[in-house]
Amino acid sequence: MTTIASFKAARGILVTGGAGYIGSHAVLALRDAGWKVAVIDNLVTGFAWAVPADVAFYQGDIADGTLLARIISEQSVGAIVHFAGSVVVPESVSDPLKYYHNNTVKSRALIESAVTGGVTHFIFSSTAATYGTPDADGPIGEATPQVPINPYGTSKLMTEWMLRDVAAAHDFNYCALRYFNVAGADPQARTGQSTAGATHLIKVAVEAALGKRDHVAIFGTDFDTPDGTGVRDYIHVSDLADAHVLALESLIENPESSHFLNCGYGHGYSVLEVLDAVDRATNLTIDRRVSGRRPGDPAALTADNSAIRQTFGWTPHYDNLDSIVTHALAWERKLTGMDR
Ligand code: UFG
Repeated sequence: MTTIASFKAARGILVTGGAGYIGSHAVLALRDAGWKVAVIDNLVTGFAWAVPADVAFYQGDIADGTLLARIISEQSVGAIVHFAGSVVVPESVSDPLKYYHNNTVKSRALIESAVTGGVTHFIFSSTAATYGTPDADGPIGEATPQVPINPYGTSKLMTEWMLRDVAAAHDFNYCALRYFNVAGADPQARTGQSTAGATHLIKVAVEAALGKRDHVAIFGTDFDTPDGTGVRDYIHVSDLADAHVLALESLIENPESSHFLNCGYGHGYSVLEVLDAVDRATNLTIDRRVSGRRPGDPAALTADNSAIRQTFGWTPHYDNLDSIVTHALAWERKLTGMDR
C-alpha cells in the first residue's frame, strides 16, 4: 500500500485554477500540509500574485495536452486537483456553449492527460447546482437525484459522469466534492475572492459595506422560508480547502475507492441574516433594496454533510457566519489597497 508519506516525498500535486478564488486557498492548504504543489491557470479570472512564490506556476490551458504532459513529467504529478472552470450561473444560461466548453470539454481533455500521464488520483470541484431544485425540504444528501436547472450544473454533472466511467476503466480514483455556497477568505488574509464583477451575496455585501457599491439587492422576500428570503449553506473557503487535503490523502490510501461528497455545514442562513452579520461586523448599515426573484433561485439549499464527516473525518473550523464575514471583510479591505 502506498503511504501518504511516501507519496508526498515522491510526487507533486497539480492544482488547476490555482490562481483563482477557491484554488488559491487549496494551494495554501496543500502547501501548509507539506505537499509539493504546482499550478496551471490561464489567468482569465485568476491572478498570478495569488500563487505563492515557491509554487511552480504554468500559465496555460488545461486542454493543452502537450503542456500537461510536460507538467506531469517535470513535477512528477501524482494527483490533480481540478478547480479551473467557469462559475457564473446566469452567464451559463446566456452562453451555455462557453460552459460546456470550459467545464465539460476541457475537463475531458484534462482527464485524458491524467490517464495518459499515469496520474491516478483526481479531485474535482463539483457543485450543489448539480441537484437543481430538490423536491424534498431539508438537507440534501448525495443520493438526491441530480437534475440541474442550468447549464452550469449540467456542465459539472457531465464531468462527474466522466470521472465515474474513467475510474471503472482505468487505474484511477477520484473524489468529486459538491460545494454549497463558498464564502470568506483565508484567516491570515493571504488570499481571497478577488475577481471583479462579483455576484455572490457575501462578496457583494462586503463590497457594499466598504463603499464599492451603493446597495445590495435582495432577490425575493416571498420565499417559503422563515423570513421570506433565500436560505443557503455558506461554507468557509478554508474549511473547503481542508476537505481537498483530506480527499487527497483518502484517495492515496484507498486506491479502490472514489467518492461524490457534499461540502457544506448542514444548516443555512437567509439573505437578511447575512446582511445583518455584515452590518454587525462593520457597525454600519448597508442599503438594502428589495428586488424581484432571480430566475431559478430555489428557496433553501443546505447540505447533508454526514458522508464527508464520516468518510474523511472532516471537521469544520469556521462554521460560524460571523467568522466568514469577518474574513471576507478583512480580505476586501486588503484588496482595496492592492494595485491589481
Ligand atoms: N442574493 C441576493 N442578492 C445578491 C446576491 C444574492 O439576494 O446580490 C441571494 C440569492 O437570491 C440567493 C442567495 O443570496 O438566495 C445566495 O446567492 P449567491 O448568488 O451568492 O449564490 P447561489 O446560491 O445562487 O449559487 C451558489 C454558487 C453556485 C452553486 C450554488 C449551489 O454561485 O455556483 O451556490 O448552492 F451552484
